[in-house]
Amino acid sequence: LRHLLTLEGLPRATLVALLDRAQAFIDGEGAADPRTALAGVAACTLFFEPSTRTRLSFQRAAQRLGADVLAFDASTSSTSKGETALDTLRNIEAMGVRGFIVRHREDGAAAMLAASAQPGTAVVNAGDGRSAHPTQGLLDVLSLRQAKGADFGALKVAVVGDIRHSRVARSELHALRALGIGGIRACGPASLLPDDATLAGCSVSDDLDAALDGVDAVFMLRLQRERMEEGLVPSLEAYHRDYGLTAARLRRAAPDAVVLHPGPMNRGVEISDEVADGPQSLVLRQVANGVAVRMAVLEALLA
Ligand code: CP
Repeated sequence: LRHLLTLEGLPRATLVALLDRAQAFIDGEGAADPRTALAGVAACTLFFEPSTRTRLSFQRAAQRLGADVLAFDASTSSTSKGETALDTLRNIEAMGVRGFIVRHREDGAAAMLAASAQPGTAVVNAGDGRSAHPTQGLLDVLSLRQAKGADFGALKVAVVGDIRHSRVARSELHALRALGIGGIRACGPASLLPDDATLAGCSVSDDLDAALDGVDAVFMLRLQRERMEEGLVPSLEAYHRDYGLTAARLRRAAPDAVVLHPGPMNRGVEISDEVADGPQSLVLRQVANGVAVRMAVLEALLA
């Protein structure tokens, strides 16, 4: 791997190797002391959009591998004076930084920076527009594999909510397909379903009760009001009534079904407190797995 920009087209073997390496970090296995794997390497979290989980878990992952970590804060940076993202990257590159973890509101921003970076520089896409959030996709399928095992062909999963605006959903779907998940159901109101090829191969429904019937895992999505054109934003009350995952609704899924959500959660909108904090929720397990997945990615790109 030179960069990690998307899971689309990533070979299954590469994806599984990253999951296996992340699991080895979690299990405390692996040949080398992880604290020295990136000793002497500098990485920068270059975030032009807000983040809690992704930014901090990449920083934690880089620290655990022994890298020097620089945290770029767009709000206090010279972008406020008009400096472009590319000039920002080039200047930080000139300080000897080799790894860039990029979040940006524009689709394709991370790929644009990767295409212009120096030969020894690696770029990880930490979320661009609606397009991709590859490490989120990886940590989500790692969480699914831990809960349900690796017999993916037998699993039925539902991806629910605002798929149209979701880079998380796009990366989850690439990962689920790459692993050979048999039945992928996509569910949301018609206005929040994508009109491109995102849902190819999925069964699509606007009926949440039907979509949940017997599934082994539910991938909930955040209602992303910040990306919606005016007029598309649904009433939160109506959205919760029709698409909120409540304990009563979850009973339609398999009894041992698991629930995932990438965070941040809109509690009481797409997910109820009792589900978010309940025994079937993997939400905090996903966050913990995020550190290990990001260690695996940084090691693959920078070691
Ligand atoms: N899941 C996720 O990307 O969360 P943050 O926006 O907090 O990084």
